[in-house]
Amino acid sequence: MATERTLSIIKPDAVAKNLIGAINSRFETAGLSIVAQKMLHLSQEQAEGFYAEHKERPFFAALVEFMTSGPVVVQVLEGENAIAKNREIMGATNPAEAAAGTLRHDFANSIDANAVHGSDAPASAEREIGYFFKSEEICPRG
Ligand code: PPS
Repeated sequence: MATERTLSIIKPDAVAKNLIGAINSRFETAGLSIVAQKMLHLSQEQAEGFYAEHKERPFFAALVEFMTSGPVVVQVLEGENAIAKNREIMGATNPAEAAAGTLRHDFANSIDANAVHGSDAPASAEREIGYFFKSEEICPRG
């Protein structure tokens, strides 16, 4: 299986609940390495650009408002099958449908404040990583 990178965001609800360490621990325990990480308070423009593919969806304004409501942690996770593995760790988009033991089941309350984001495919991972990180800010494990 190939080593991949994926873009993860610890969203404002999870940062506000002091869950950064607990979430990072889940990633590391599952064999994903954090190879880049920074805390940001997204501007409206940054959030709209990141979620541009969803701009016609009815929840777009609420999503942008939520993602700019407080600081987030953006990070690059690296490991075997990292994109699918991270989505397994996160659980379903709607916490009410997420399996027990996943981040969204354990740490999120609602679909509009669902604790974490993870890239859904190799092309989106590449775009999303490039949206937040320069290549020299990523430190692969030797
Ligand atoms: S996915 O995985 O991209 O197919 O998920 P999708 O359902 O298309 O949702 C895309 C992102 O929008 C968020 N979302 C919502 N935000 C606010 N309100 C509602 N109702 C809502 N439904 C979906 C969802 O959490 C996804 O955000 P990310 O950051 O990609 O997880």
